Amino acid sequence: MEKLMVRGGRPLRGTVQISGAKNSAVALLPAAILAESEVVLDNLPQLSDVAVYGEILEQLGAGVSWSGDTMRIDPSRLQSAPMPDGKVKLLRASYYLMGALLGRFGEAVIGLPGGCNFEPRPIDQHIKGFEALGAEVSNEHGSIRIFARELRGAKIYLDVVSVGATINIMLAASRAKGVTTIENAAKEPEIIDVATLLNAMGARIKGAGTETIRIEGVEAMHGCRHSIIPDRIQAGTYMIAAAATRGDVVIDGVIPKHMEAMSAKLVEMGVQVIEMDESIRIVGAPTYEPIDVRALVYPGFATDLQSPMTSLLTQASGVSILTDYVYSNRFKHVPELVRMGAGIRVEGRSAIIEGGPLNAAKVRAADLRAGAALVVAGLTVPEGVTEIAGVEYIDRGYDNLVENLRRLGADVWREQADA
Ligand code: EPU
Repeated sequence: MEKLMVRGGRPLRGTVQISGAKNSAVALLPAAILAESEVVLDNLPQLSDVAVYGEILEQLGAGVSWSGDTMRIDPSRLQSAPMPDGKVKLLRASYYLMGALLGRFGEAVIGLPGGCNFEPRPIDQHIKGFEALGAEVSNEHGSIRIFARELRGAKIYLDVVSVGATINIMLAASRAKGVTTIENAAKEPEIIDVATLLNAMGARIKGAGTETIRIEGVEAMHGCRHSIIPDRIQAGTYMIAAAATRGDVVIDGVIPKHMEAMSAKLVEMGVQVIEMDESIRIVGAPTYEPIDVRALVYPGFATDLQSPMTSLLTQASGVSILTDYVYSNRFKHVPELVRMGAGIRVEGRSAIIEGGPLNAAKVRAADLRAGAALVVAGLTVPEGVTEIAGVEYIDRGYDNLVENLRRLGADVWREQADA
């Protein structure tokens, strides 16, 4: 186990390159199961979750090979096998194996997913979708067993706007008989990315990115080559870090449209945000206005950026309120920020943040984005070294974090954690 050491107080300066989106990658890899020939994915982020997914596909019999940020997946000899535990327990997104295996083989047995469990994260809407397509779903000793003699298209209304359920239903419905419509679908860019891959594999999906998605099932799907969209959460985290350190950073290789909510909030605080075709320049200011932030489904402010945003709001002059309407209690970063001297209290779904300087402390990342919040916080502290334990969570979502920050002038390094 390692810890991340941060000696802050230096404005970040320079350019950071954003890699492919983790939350797309973990859906695109299982989507490849639906093809009967080779799928090549480019621009994959080098993250532990992606590597684990590759190993899961290998366990199922797929041929998997890496070269740089490209993965080739040959699913022609892949078979459906029960996966009650093991690697599936390491990932939240292992639930996509359900939709993909169901679509291709009509059956799946998958252990309930692991990953960042910052609060109970039910999958009832995924199951509702599979059942609507004609599958029988049962919970056997903590594994979900899904079986369908034949998948039939259906009209599915999601009671909760869910990224995972929308994608899982798209996966299974791509190989169902007839037409499926998903109403109240999630609109995240990752959903469009998955639909783009599936269509390149021969699926017929329309409306991804809107609240109604129409999927006409096809009998067979084939391989293709696809390049993953940039990671908007990674990009947003660097935008926040640039602002928090009063730096001047170009975030390169992004789709600025995906960053609109983030950019708008930074501008409201007094940060200069300059949008270019595929990059965004962030120029910090000496003082910031306090603001209100509401984390919502896309195109609202992303809940995944809520935690690092909390750290930035400690740098504003006054009281900010941050409310998460996606998760009711995603605030595991707050007690750690309080250890660093932050004036934050949680009331229901809101964090009330009183601006003020932070101090170095020993803290622990309880989940991926909580970890990102602590890194941003540490970067603002000019004296002492902030020690962040739980780096393995941060590694799940930020590739080359230390190298990227060092290139921007930050004084950060990894050390062996104490026993
Ligand atoms: N929900 C239900 N029932 C369901 C599914 C979801 O009640 O069947 C609720 C959840 O509890 C939550 C809300 O609906 O309150 C939204 O959950 P969603 O299903 O959209 O989340 P997810 O698909 O499990 C993905 C990302 C998360 C991100 C959320 C929201 C992946 C692998 N994960 O999760 O990313 O927070 O969408 O945008 O795509 C992260 O990257 O740190 C992360 C946690």
